[in-house]
Amino acid sequence: MKIITDFLIVGSGIAGLSYALKVAEHGRVAIVTKREVSTTATSLAQGGIAAVSSDLDSFEQHFDDTMTAGVQLPNPEIVRMVVEMGPRAIEDLINWGVNFSRNKNAAYDLTREGGHSQRRIYHAKDETGKEIERALVTAVRSHPNITLYENHIAVDLITEAKMTRRRLKPDRCLGVYVLNRETGEVETFGATITALATGGAGKVYLYTCNPDVATGDGIAMAYRAGATIANMEFMQFHPTTLYHPHAKSFLISEAVRGEGAILRRRNGTAFMDGKHPLKDLAPRDIVARAIDNEMKVHGDDFVCLDITHKDSAYIKDRFPHIYETCLSYGIDMTVEPIPVVPAAHYLCGGIKVDPFGETDINNLFAIGEVSCTGLHGANRLASNSLLEGVVFAERAAQKSLERTKSKPAPFPAIAQWDSGSARNSDEEVIVAHNWDEIRRCMWNYVGIVRSDKRLVRALRRVQMIQEEISDYYWDFYITSDLVELRNIATVAELIIRCGLKRKESRGLHYTIDYPVTDDVHWKRDTLIRKVF
Ligand code: SIN
Repeated sequence: MKIITDFLIVGSGIAGLSYALKVAEHGRVAIVTKREVSTTATSLAQGGIAAVSSDLDSFEQHFDDTMTAGVQLPNPEIVRMVVEMGPRAIEDLINWGVNFSRNKNAAYDLTREGGHSQRRIYHAKDETGKEIERALVTAVRSHPNITLYENHIAVDLITEAKMTRRRLKPDRCLGVYVLNRETGEVETFGATITALATGGAGKVYLYTCNPDVATGDGIAMAYRAGATIANMEFMQFHPTTLYHPHAKSFLISEAVRGEGAILRRRNGTAFMDGKHPLKDLAPRDIVARAIDNEMKVHGDDFVCLDITHKDSAYIKDRFPHIYETCLSYGIDMTVEPIPVVPAAHYLCGGIKVDPFGETDINNLFAIGEVSCTGLHGANRLASNSLLEGVVFAERAAQKSLERTKSKPAPFPAIAQWDSGSARNSDEEVIVAHNWDEIRRCMWNYVGIVRSDKRLVRALRRVQMIQEEISDYYWDFYITSDLVELRNIATVAELIIRCGLKRKESRGLHYTIDYPVTDDVHWKRDTLIRKVF
């Protein structure tokens, strides 16, 4: 089956859907998404979206907070641009139907999270992402130019170099091969413009608060196609996810600390005093490392997050989702502290893009968590990611429209996917085993505190697994699990290789071999590109 469209979007979180709504006035849009449309990291976002609006706040302060959290690695021009486009992004979301929480004076209720010097976070109680996703999906579903393909997982990019077997610099993207999970058929989607909005890669780690779909598909596909990938060592671990055997790393929003919660040892001692002037609201890398250290030093499996000093009615009203979820696991956060541990949460690196979200493959854009725009540097400031998604959707839409207007060169013939002599697999256990091994290896060797020895060990393991996957990949019909496995292996390799390149500690990359930040040699991105 072959589908031809003007704009092809892979992924259906805030970035992909905002971009779809922006370009849909100008052509046909196809969105492919690997599960149901709302199975996205956006839907799980609790905290909110940062943008300057109060008189006490300023673009300068939001800029400074972003640069400080990112340990001066963010690109100042990008930070300035995103921060200044913040109010407009909020306006777009409100126009698309998002209902942000208001206070008793009917003004928008602004909350605070780690690293922010002001209250500037718009939220919808503690389910901001769910509300955003609801509004965007409603708008997308009712747009006549947009077709949604659910249960379709992208397999590989189609590029001009691949189709014509020529070396092209730059190459051009012509679309994507996509596996229809219901029929098992690989379909060809040809598109003038392709936008990857596949989100992050938390599933590379054993413990993550990301949804199951976060397997780094866009990054792995772009890397295989020859795009430059940047800063993969900067995986952000969220300091506080619920510690419970059945909770699957449920997120306890940083907004809980923003509203006064305190981190304590199991014996009740608060431990963030003296670690950073913002104490419990220090940037995430600092809090996650402090928790990791507390757990190691005291041999504890978790630390405690305590908001019991706040009024119980207030807690239930402000954090209804977190309150109910904790209660379903037998924890009443109004009267007892919540046991928490860090878990993989957000990838600050990704596909390197220009200020308009375009990659170094022509007509291929990357927006949202899949991209590395220069906004986050070595550590993302909380609630800057939803903002980045909307701002870069707008920027990418602008450039995409220019490209479609300037009469693109004709496409070469696009070959259908060739399964060769593949057959049905009789050993699914290999896929399951390798998934588990990669995730465990990454958690143990490439976690919050790293060393060269552990990174090298991890690289050896991952490369061995990759060889096995490669043999398996071409022998058997591909399945969604196999596509994702190949992708998490690639992303794991990229994280480790970037980690080995950076000979310093900065933000989310902390290594005992180079514990100091080295601004002279390392105030720059780590870049990786596949050699053909
Ligand atoms: C949270 O609610 O703590 C997550 C917000 C974010 O990661 O920006």
